[in-house]
Amino acid sequence: MHEGGGSESGVRTMYNDDSPLIRLGIENCLCCWRLQDAQSIPDPGPSHVHVTLRQLTLFESVARHLSFTRAAQELHLSQPAVSMQIRQLEEAIGLPLFEKLGKRIHLTEAGQEMFHYSQSVNRQLREAEEVMAALKGVQRGHLRISVATTANYFATRLLAAFAREYEGTSFALEVTNRKTLLQRLSDNDTDLVIMGKPPEGLDLLAEAFMENPLVVIAPPGHPLADPPEPIPLSRIQDETFVVREMDSGTRIAMERFFTARGVRLKAGMEMTSNEAIKQAVEAGLGLGIVSVHTLELELETGRLAILAVEDFPILRHWYVVHRRGKRLSPVALAFRGFLLGAQSHSFARPVAKGLGPV
Ligand code: PGA
Repeated sequence: MHEGGGSESGVRTMYNDDSPLIRLGIENCLCCWRLQDAQSIPDPGPSHVHVTLRQLTLFESVARHLSFTRAAQELHLSQPAVSMQIRQLEEAIGLPLFEKLGKRIHLTEAGQEMFHYSQSVNRQLREAEEVMAALKGVQRGHLRISVATTANYFATRLLAAFAREYEGTSFALEVTNRKTLLQRLSDNDTDLVIMGKPPEGLDLLAEAFMENPLVVIAPPGHPLADPPEPIPLSRIQDETFVVREMDSGTRIAMERFFTARGVRLKAGMEMTSNEAIKQAVEAGLGLGIVSVHTLELELETGRLAILAVEDFPILRHWYVVHRRGKRLSPVALAFRGFLLGAQSHSFARPVAKGLGPV
């Protein structure tokens, strides 16, 4: 449905690959892609389809989520606004892009074709954004970074330290669950990701920059706090644990650790945040397993204790991750170098008594 210099359908390509030319006007901000129809672009004639970049971006989001509501949330728009744009896009193309079967929407054949092209356009836009960022250099660069919820305990401090060294840089920090991080990597939709367990199967460059020990926590008065010698794993089996959600890096590491040792853990309540786990443990709802990086305040104030359990801590690492072959902007390169260099660690490393350096 496109032409690379000549077309049957009337959608013309901007490049000599498969990206449709979109008749667009750029308001002013390249990195936000706030685009509107340009009145000033000469009308190429009746054989051309008038598709705006905004419509394509909206379409790509609806097609990816197969939901108008989720696309509206992602793009901070109202659902009627998204529906209207999609309707106008369908009118411009002259074909339906979605069909509703029962309660769910599906892509029509034309929709599937269009999805392919809209993804391609979005990729080109991101690439252009990266090239523009490279031309601006580190000092005026903008860094998009997505981090695991657990890494948030140190990520802001790292960014603050980095910003002091590179004044003029700006950041967008996304703190999210592992599932979304995997999506960001798969869509190549962020500059860098910080996570504890890089996925297999994607062509990634994952570099360890800091240790991430997982420890067992209990309220300070717990009978297992302060034992004369390490608590055997078999004793831990008798306790109930408050655990993180299934997809979290912490949960995966914990399950692997116990399975490898033939220990069956009694999992009680499941919680999606470290804060909730710590509060539940403090309230006596069970023991917990968390990264030592989440515990700085509780250890300082004596609200939680780390239990000396045999074979603990579970030794893991934090990784800085991006798609292999991705063209990193100067600011992303500088931040990656900052993480991998020794200077970042003192900002991230909490004091955990009895654990040695972590
Ligand atoms: P998470 O942390 O448990 O918040 O996903 C990342 C990790 O430790 O792998």
